[in-house]
Amino acid sequence: MKPPALLTLDVNGARHTVAADADTPLLYLLRNDLALNGPKFGCGLGECGACTVLLDGVPTRSCVTSARVAERHAITTLEGLGTRECPHPVQQAFIDEQAAQCGYCLNGMIMTAKALIDRCPDPTLDEIRRELSRNLCRCGTHIEIMRAVQRAAVLMREAKMRALPDATREAEVARLPVDLSVVVETSPSGARR
Ligand code: FES
Ligand code: FES
Repeated sequence: MKPPALLTLDVNGARHTVAADADTPLLYLLRNDLALNGPKFGCGLGECGACTVLLDGVPTRSCVTSARVAERHAITTLEGLGTRECPHPVQQAFIDEQAAQCGYCLNGMIMTAKALIDRCPDPTLDEIRRELSRNLCRCGTHIEIMRAVQRAAVLMREAKMRALPDATREAEVARLPVDLSVVVETSPSGARR
């Protein structure tokens, strides 16, 4: 048996050293060594998306990513987004839309949605559908999840606006007159909430 290597992982802005075989899946180190249980073990084969984390902002399946590869990147897990007291806008949107039954898929859905909105602040329904198409939800809450991602995009734009200086914010608000009523009107079911 190979002796463990000392691996350095940059997770949620903090450096961690763990002793493990460099081929160990990142997911195992996050959950078992660092007690970060946001990423879930689903299939273990890179198929379901439950274990998704961001490596340098890119959604990545941590069950099939070795520690050796992960060492070269900044890793963000669900715990790195927000807290129970102060959720990230994407997390807040999923709460607002009640976009879960068992919730097992939500880590992957939220991390993938966050990366999409960072890259594309106003995604279309098709873009959302395409981005999430490899994230499986066995409970079938797809309509609520789509709605949550639309809402998340609005909340993230609003959060960005609030962080701007007053004059810049006013100019941006005039340029992007989108509000949550748009999300309600374009909900896939057509139902008002
Ligand atoms: S557990 Fe990683 S993709 Fe399913
Ligand atoms: S809410 Fe249960 S798997 Fe998605």
